[in-house]
Amino acid sequence: MTKSPYEISQLTGIDSEAAADLFFRAREALKKDNQISELWEMATAIEKQRLDAKKFTTGAEAIDNMLLGGIETDAITEVYGEFGAGKSQLSHTFAVSVQLPEDKKGLSKDGEDVRVAWIDTENTFRPERIRAIAIRFGLDPDKVMSNIKVARVHNTVEQMDALEQIEKVIKSENIKLIVVDSAIGLFRGEYIGRGNLSNRQGAISRFVHLGEKIAMAYHLAVIYTNQVQSDPSQMFGDPTKSVGGRVVEHTSTYRIYLKKSGKFRVAVMKDSPHHPDGECVYGVTEGGVVDKVLKEAEIKEAEKVKKAAKKDIEEEVEL
Ligand SMILES: Nc1ncnc2c1ncn2[C@@H]1O[C@H](COP(=O)(O)OP(=O)(O)OP(=O)(O)O)[C@@H](O)[C@H]1O
Ligand SMILES: [Mg+2]
Repeated sequence: MTKSPYEISQLTGIDSEAAADLFFRAREALKKDNQISELWEMATAIEKQRLDAKKFTTGAEAIDNMLLGGIETDAITEVYGEFGAGKSQLSHTFAVSVQLPEDKKGLSKDGEDVRVAWIDTENTFRPERIRAIAIRFGLDPDKVMSNIKVARVHNTVEQMDALEQIEKVIKSENIKLIVVDSAIGLFRGEYIGRGNLSNRQGAISRFVHLGEKIAMAYHLAVIYTNQVQSDPSQMFGDPTKSVGGRVVEHTSTYRIYLKKSGKFRVAVMKDSPHHPDGECVYGVTEGGVVDKVLKEAEIKEAEKVKKAAKKDIEEEVEL
């Protein structure tokens, strides 16, 4: 149900009418099975799906509060920022915190195993970070590790394939979180130059939209990380190099911008349909993402970093 008639037609070679027919038949079957709703539904039903969405902790109460509770299922959260900003550290923390029991702000209900699928496009997944973060949360590191599946992908075709493969086992394996770190790095590397821009956008769009459909259909959380350059003049050479972020931006339900400056790390909430924009200071330790208590003398300096982060966002050109 996550393939459009157009995609079915492209993949199988059958004509578009037959593909549309297949699509509608699949829709009917899933409706009978109560797996999807009618196309037209009451506003209250949509409200219910939003209320049924679950949230799990980011590890820092300040970020949780900014997100009105934590990372949400049935949604895509884009974590973006510069090199070293903390995107992968947040992702590692989420891969552990989602496994916490519900009463500790995780998604595990009645002791069931909650699983995570991690698509690693830059070889930055680190088991030792997972183990250290598990210990911080009081979870068994072996158990936490055994609940995480990793696909190390090397090109955009493998990346798409990894998402398509995981879709088939989401239900049976109780996957509640999919992390893609980074979501568009490989696309930037493969589709080089101005002449390839629209192909790049198209390919990114297919990938991020599949993630969106999966998040909604299976009621899980999707995290996309995205490396951006806050100062476009620093992108020496090819100015089209980083283009592609906009597609992710438009697909993401929530966007968290991360900035590191001096000894402060700031997270800013951007463009959410119902959250007031907010920003907060947090820390990264051996145990993952944590709250940072500011000393009196640090408050002013931290405020400056928050302001700088908000300015980055305002000045965001094409990412
Ligand atoms: N064990 C640890 N304890 C404390 N801080 C750590 C630890 N491991 C990593 N960090 C911090 O996290 C930073 C790296 O952050 P991270 O890898 O999340 O960046 P990123 O945003 O993913 O960058 P990139 O765009 O290059 O992927 C390090 O510079 C360090 O400050
Ligand atoms: Mg990273």
